[in-house]
Amino acid sequence: MKYCSECGKRITEKEIEGKRRLVCLHCGKIYYQNPFPTVDIIIEKGEGIVLINRKNPPYGWALPGGFVDYGESLEEAAKREVKEETNLDIKELKQFCVYSTPGRDPRFHTISTVFTGKGEGKLKASDDAKEIKIFKKDEVPSVLAFDHKRILEDYFNSQVKKIALYPGSFDPITNGHLDVIKRSLFLFDKVIIGVSDNPLKKFLFTTKERIEIIKEALRGFSNVEIESFRGLLVDYARRRRARFLIRGLRAISDFEYEFQMDLMNRKLNSQIETVYLMTDQKYSYLSSSIVKEIAQLGGCIKGLVPDVVEKRLSEKFKNIS
Ligand code: PNS
Repeated sequence: MKYCSECGKRITEKEIEGKRRLVCLHCGKIYYQNPFPTVDIIIEKGEGIVLINRKNPPYGWALPGGFVDYGESLEEAAKREVKEETNLDIKELKQFCVYSTPGRDPRFHTISTVFTGKGEGKLKASDDAKEIKIFKKDEVPSVLAFDHKRILEDYFNSQVKKIALYPGSFDPITNGHLDVIKRSLFLFDKVIIGVSDNPLKKFLFTTKERIEIIKEALRGFSNVEIESFRGLLVDYARRRRARFLIRGLRAISDFEYEFQMDLMNRKLNSQIETVYLMTDQKYSYLSSSIVKEIAQLGGCIKGLVPDVVEKRLSEKFKNIS
């Protein structure tokens, strides 16, 4: 290697911290050589994760792990290291991510495949570990050896569930709404359907009825919750830990109202992001109001709403007339 991959200038050999390294004297980039494959394992046990207190440098709390032996697969190395350092058997071993920053280990350039798995058995520190403990997320020491602090931050962030809130009047829910809900479930871990319980607004169906109808229409769906809310939408989203709001967009005519709402919600809470899903073309002309009007005037609404809505609307208008 003759030229720096960062700045294109020539690189040269130089002693850094007692070791010969290739260095770019222009931009300072250090080229480490001969990376070693290693493994680190995030062992989930009980309510927390298992860390070892190292008896060899670099000292301090760290994830169990080590070098991959000759002829060993990464998975075999992970299982062996866990057994040697913690006495645990590892189940449901999965690759989490690969970490390759040259400076991640102060001694060598290592490339680590980090695994997650469930630890089974009785903890016992041995080999590289002089002490072993299970740490809950908020008990993890503020300093860890190697780059394990960053690995654990990435891991804990990956565990956070993406919760979205789909607010609306749903008076009543239509197939357009259902289409938005189904598609949101591909994007988020959980979708909360927030049914507006605004006492100042006149609805055809009571809040209780609208919730019953949605529950019936979404029977068999998992990862959805249906409930009513009052007050500011952003406050409700914060209470339910939903970082995302979902809104469906039909025609350009929706845009102005949605834009205004988005700007206002953003002003009230800039942490909450609204995600817009374009309605499927076949529902682009559909709205709860239009469905109610057609049903009231005796028109056919089949295919526009779930069966339960068709039934409830005809009952409602029979009772009204
Ligand atoms: O289905 P809709 O009628 O378009 O839904 C409107 C809804 C319920 C999302 C909106 O009226 C709302 O967010 N109401 C809660 C009160 C609030 O937070 N208002 C400020 C947002 S501009």
